[in-house]
Amino acid sequence: MTLRRIALTGAAGSLAADIIPGLLARGHTIVGIDQRAPVDTFGCEFVECLVNDRAAMLSALRGCNAVIHLAGIPLEAEWADILRANIDGTQAVLEVAEQLGVRRVVLASSIHSVGFVPVPTDGSLVPDDVPVRPNTFYGVSKAAVEALGSLYHDRFGLDVICLRIASRFAEPTGERTLSTWLSPADAVRLFDACLQVPSPGYRTIWGVSANTRGYLSAEGGAAIGFRPEDDSERFAERMFAASDTDPSLLASDWDRAYIGGIFSSPQPPCFGGHPPRP
Ligand SMILES: NC(=O)c1ccc[n+]([C@@H]2O[C@H](COP(=O)([O-])OP(=O)(O)OC[C@H]3O[C@@H](n4cnc5c(N)ncnc54)[C@H](O)[C@@H]3O)[C@@H](O)[C@H]2O)c1
Repeated sequence: MTLRRIALTGAAGSLAADIIPGLLARGHTIVGIDQRAPVDTFGCEFVECLVNDRAAMLSALRGCNAVIHLAGIPLEAEWADILRANIDGTQAVLEVAEQLGVRRVVLASSIHSVGFVPVPTDGSLVPDDVPVRPNTFYGVSKAAVEALGSLYHDRFGLDVICLRIASRFAEPTGERTLSTWLSPADAVRLFDACLQVPSPGYRTIWGVSANTRGYLSAEGGAAIGFRPEDDSERFAERMFAASDTDPSLLASDWDRAYIGGIFSSPQPPCFGGHPPRP
């Protein structure tokens, strides 16, 4: 096993809190980076800066041999905000990594880069590299994150893995997420596999657990050594029982039509609750 000193952006966020303890337990060293201080640093070094601040990032990434880039706006938002945080921010991270010779970068993409892909109805699985069909400005930004990763691999030779993270929650939150759930423990396994696999080149990979009702391919994950151990099915009976009193738990028409679910509707969940258009 190769232990790594990892720069992890978005270190004050909820996905970071899910994976940092597990990555530390596997022996990695982490330098956390975020625009705001985390509630818990888990004993890691922490640098408070925007990922867009190249001078601060050059200093923060020095001596690291991998970057996990999670920082960004995780829902739909105004275009200008998405552009600055998710697209400009990712370009800055890749540029600084290239300048410093950090060869391994793991980028947080999203199911919403391909959110308008129809839910398969014939038992087939959606491939890890299905072409982009973004469902929001957010989804467009994640498609751009993937394109930037591809560019920095092809032009500069960085190893870049883009994780199309599906639905990462402590537990599935509704019928759709019985198919798309990524458990916190599997998230640790996934990010660790991204750090361990030799010479991955450029790839897009689903970030999803081994769900009985899953429709996202597990092939890309298996190819880098990701072995998910969790299955949402253990929550299904309780969820369907709860849907008797809370029908919102059941899949909506959007959930049945598109893999991006409600994000593919005209009213996607918005950062700060403000829709990007009237
Ligand atoms: N949570 C999920 O299920 C899920 C699913 C798909 C993709 N993702 C992606 O994973 C990443 C992390 O998601 P999360 O749920 O932890 O979100 P989060 O909002 O909890 O954390 C994101 C963090 O990024 C920081 N940040 C934002 N812009 C920044 C900037 N320009 N410079 C420095 N820090 C900045 C924020 O302060 C925040 O702490 C995001 O890129 C998100 O799009 C998450």
